[in-house]
Amino acid sequence: MRVAIIGTGKVGSAIARGLKGKGHDVALGSRDPQAAHIAALASATGAVTKRPAAAVAEADLIVLALPWGAAETAVKALGPLTGKTVIDCMNPLGMVGGALGLTVGHSTSGGEIVQGWLPGAHVVKTLNSVGAEIMAKNDTLPQRPVMFMAGNDNGAKAQVATFLTDLGFAALDAGDITKARLLEPFAMVWINQALVRGKGRNWAFAAVEG
Ligand SMILES: NC(=O)c1ccc[n+]([C@@H]2O[C@H](COP(=O)([O-])OP(=O)(O)OC[C@H]3O[C@@H](n4cnc5c(N)ncnc54)[C@H](OP(=O)(O)O)[C@@H]3O)[C@@H](O)[C@H]2O)c1
Repeated sequence: MRVAIIGTGKVGSAIARGLKGKGHDVALGSRDPQAAHIAALASATGAVTKRPAAAVAEADLIVLALPWGAAETAVKALGPLTGKTVIDCMNPLGMVGGALGLTVGHSTSGGEIVQGWLPGAHVVKTLNSVGAEIMAKNDTLPQRPVMFMAGNDNGAKAQVATFLTDLGFAALDAGDITKARLLEPFAMVWINQALVRGKGRNWAFAAVEG
């Protein structure tokens, strides 16, 4: 697949590392594609670096790995992305009642808001319920971690399922994009355990079946 990763922070760089050697053409879409740390990431992963709008132009699958507060401006600047598959791994986080929490929920979700910004694209909410480190490498875990996905287009979800498999996850279809209302609070379960309860970051959810 031709993959564009928009945002080269913890998640964007982890996904680039996780995709290394999996047969994808990866473009890192950065505000500063010439920066030394981005050139080093590209060199380490076999990706190319571009500005975001150039990175998405040639891509079949686009990963949005941006801070929620910057996302609306940055995503709308990418153009309509009509017909493309767009992974939204962003959690709509902010300070809520004095603690880190979701700024939307119950009646909408970050995933639905992103789909609203890109009405012609096939947005799939996924990769939001585990730490970035596990996206880069999870083959030392005793079980394959599960990753849910929510989106309206079955073809896009099939493409994303392949992508998730290549990153070492077992993909599970949660339903349409409104199910992002379930997946975003689910991410808070991971965040609460990892960061508040002291469990650390080297773990993920798994589905155990009988
Ligand atoms: N960190 C995790 O473990 C984790 C796990 C699951 C989901 N998430 C979600 O994934 C998203 C990205 O998280 P992250 O931890 O990778 O964030 P991060 O380390 O802060 O990286 C975000 C990247 O977005 C780009 N960007 C574009 N416009 C920006 C702006 N105005 N301000 C700052 N950065 C901007 C930057 O890349 P360039 O400089 O290259 O443009 C930046 O490195 C978030 O929505 C988060 O909720 C994070």
